Order: sequence, then structure tokens, then C-alpha cells
Amino acid sequence: MSHSDTHASLDSLIRKRKTEKILLDPDQSCPLEAAQSRRLAEWIYEDLMTAGWAPFHYPRDIEGLAEPWRAHVLKDSVTQPLAKHLKHELELSSKEPLLCAACSALVLVTWLPESAPDDCGELLQQKLNERNQEHLAAASAMVQNFLLLQTARELGTYWSSGGILKEERMFNKLGIPTSEKLLAALFIQVPGHLDGTEQRKPGAHRNRRSMDWVREIQALSLS
Ligand SMILES: Cc1cc2nc3c(=O)[nH]c(=O)nc-3n(C[C@H](O)[C@H](O)[C@H](O)COP(=O)(O)O)c2cc1C
Repeated sequence: MSHSDTHASLDSLIRKRKTEKILLDPDQSCPLEAAQSRRLAEWIYEDLMTAGWAPFHYPRDIEGLAEPWRAHVLKDSVTQPLAKHLKHELELSSKEPLLCAACSALVLVTWLPESAPDDCGELLQQKLNERNQEHLAAASAMVQNFLLLQTARELGTYWSSGGILKEERMFNKLGIPTSEKLLAALFIQVPGHLDGTEQRKPGAHRNRRSMDWVREIQALSLS
């Protein structure tokens, strides 16, 4: 493949990725067939491994791992009971129970902030804030890589902030250390697997894009 073909396919993949919010009543949930669920899990693991080639500035070095992010994968055998738990036990009226019921898998991506004692001094605190911003930036690059790879597999994706899934009580339920912070709840959808009773919504800002945020610096301003 020539450079220009590679560029053209990457360009079209980036433009093809879009938010697909899919909502379904947890009591109408529709599990994947076992083989489909296994194949989706394989794709998710493969794509996370590739997504992990995102750049990162500072090694986080927790449990021998340099990466400043983690990914927690929930297959539909877990998202379905989670949806029912959110609806019936926690009696949530937000969209998370519906999103969990509709998705084919959910990937919770966290980032790993660094902290120091409050009395560590302003300079160290500032340095840590800068490092944390870069950990978060690196984790976001990993997320976008993953979304593009899943889009290339014709899977639907939705990057959500996570709502209740960010909360400590949910981290405890899912075995996620509370030292991690949720960056993205990635709802993944196998196309054509629901029965039509679901609701579908696009990203709210999908068509608000422009090029007006690009500016060329033509000369130094010398004062
Ligand atoms: C960090 C981040 C968090 C987001 N959280 C939410 C969310 O909680 N709810 C929501 O409706 N959309 C959320 N979105 C998706 C945006 O609404 C969506 O990307 C935007 O409308 C543009 O649409 P597109 O993704 O189809 O281009 C989030 C996107 C990002 C990058």
C-alpha cells in the first residue's frame, strides 16, 4: 500500500468514527451468542494491545507497568447483570442502565494520577499537576486509537464520561482500585444484534466542527 493509500484509509477511518449512543431497557436485554461474545472479546483485546502503542511521556511504573492507563473489559455476561443492578437495586433513572443493557461490551479506561502529601510544597505540587495532565493526555491518545480500531471492525462505539460508573461504590463492585480515575466508559456495539426496540442517538456536537481553531503563526511578536 502506498503512503497516499495509507493516508486516505486513515483519514476516512478517523472521519468514520462517530458516537453511537444506544439505549435499551435492561429488562429487554438481548445477549450475544457465545461465539459472537468470544470473538468480540478477542477483537477488544487485540485492539487494546495495538491502542497501547499510543505515546506516553512519563512512565507510571505501578506493578511493573510503565503505562499511565488501565483498561477494564466487561463482556455482555457482566454488562447485562450490571444494567439490571443499576435499574432495580440502585433504581437509577439516568442513561447508564440503558447503555449497559444495549452494549455488546464495555471497556472502562482509567488513568493513574500521581499524588503527594498536601504539605509537599508548591513546586512539587505544580510538577505533579503537569505530569498528571500528561498522563491524562496519553491515556486519551490510547482511547482514540482503540476507538479507531473498533470502528475499522465496523463496531459501534460511544465514549461516555461514565456517570455513576465513575463512583467509588461502582469501582468497588467491579474490582477497580480507587487510586485509578475513570477517563472513559467505552460502550461497544456489534451491529445488527438488537431487535429494534432500542433507541439510538448521535453525539450532540457531531456536526459542530469547523477549521476555525487552526491558526498559522507567521512571525514572532518581538517586544
Ligand atoms: C472525554 C469525553 C467524554 C464524553 N462524555 C460524554 C457523555 O458523558 N455523554 C455524551 O452524551 N457524550 C459524551 N461524549 C461524546 C461527545 O458528545 C461526542 O464525541 C461529540 O458529540 C461529537 O460527536 P462524535 O463523537 O460523533 O464526533 C464524550 C466525549 C469525550 C471525548
